[in-house]
Amino acid sequence: MSASQRLRRRYVDGLRREGAITRPEVAGAFAAVPREVFVADGFHGRDGTWVPADGDGFLESVYTNDVLVTKIRDGRPVSSSSQPSLMAAMIEGLELRPGTRVLEVGAGTGYNAALMAAVGARVTSIDVQADVLGRARAALARCGAAGVLLHEGDGYDGYAAGAPYDRVIVTVGVAGASPRWLEQLAPDGFVLVPLRHAGHHPVLRVRREPDGVVHAAGVCPAGFMSAAGPLSAPYPSAHPLPVDPLPAATVARPARFDPPLDVFRYHDLWFAVGAWDGRATFAQLAGAPSESGCALLDETGVGGAGIAPDGSIHATGAHAGAYSERAAALLDRWVTSGEPAVPAWRAAMALDGDPDRPIWVPRGWHLTPQP
Ligand SMILES: C[S@@+](CC[C@H](N)C(=O)[O-])C[C@H]1O[C@@H](n2cnc3c(N)ncnc32)[C@H](O)[C@@H]1O
Repeated sequence: MSASQRLRRRYVDGLRREGAITRPEVAGAFAAVPREVFVADGFHGRDGTWVPADGDGFLESVYTNDVLVTKIRDGRPVSSSSQPSLMAAMIEGLELRPGTRVLEVGAGTGYNAALMAAVGARVTSIDVQADVLGRARAALARCGAAGVLLHEGDGYDGYAAGAPYDRVIVTVGVAGASPRWLEQLAPDGFVLVPLRHAGHHPVLRVRREPDGVVHAAGVCPAGFMSAAGPLSAPYPSAHPLPVDPLPAATVARPARFDPPLDVFRYHDLWFAVGAWDGRATFAQLAGAPSESGCALLDETGVGGAGIAPDGSIHATGAHAGAYSERAAALLDRWVTSGEPAVPAWRAAMALDGDPDRPIWVPRGWHLTPQP
């Protein structure tokens, strides 16, 4: 057994243990596709330094549950191989069968497309960057992946020539879903998309219901880089975008959760705060225990209140007192609502954004009874 196969076996076991992989065919795909082939030129390590393919620890780093950033422009990541546990959760969420027709927006390295093809899907994958697509094409050829067609273009347009698709999977963060994806879906198809919500990109399942209304349902928390072009268009009722660090807190409320919420439950709380309050976003707050996370941004844009995973609240700016109370009321509401998780939420969607290239965005989230 090669070093790659040995590390891959441990990697798949780890993803199974944490519950990201439950289906045998998905485990089989992760065990069969060599991730290193898709980052053959290397990647940016956690500390930002370049990890070349012949560098120390390259293979060990490839088989961790980490994002591998493959391209940075102007100091921001613009392409990567996404976090494996997130890829696994999304692939499982697609409920793929042999022959399922999938449109992927955001080909990136091509690894996710190869995984879906290994489950038996017929994949069309789009990326807006020609050089990224060139490397993905070479990688897919090197590992002999069959059943993947790559296309260069803006994912907003989908790829009508390959329609209809049973599934659309979007692997880049967007502000809203493209109408083209819904037009190119087969009846009963659905879209899995990381859609901007309160400063991060939880994954939603979007479909047109038999009554004609487009609906979104929460699937899982996630973090993704933002898409280029009309998919990231601003619209009036959107939450504020993440801001520069806020000044040190002047008002604080004590911790409520001991131990603090783990990362998943914290994101459940964050989703709820975003569903109930249009001022919720991601912010860094000097002096708060977690330094960054969910915050309500005040109208000045330089103040507001952050909510930490331990439930403590740290507020700053001219309206610190009022925002600290508002954050505390939202925290109470989440607790008294039974601490709902991301999949408990539903919203009808409406068209917004650029009138020439509109996007479907959620309008008014509500809770649904959970089993
Ligand atoms: C996180 S990476 C995708 C990861 C990929 N699925 C993989 O397995 O490696 C996001 C990709 O989305 C692409 N992208 C950004 N905006 C886009 C757009 N409007 N249309 C299509 N692709 C886009 C980027 O070029 C980048 O390669």
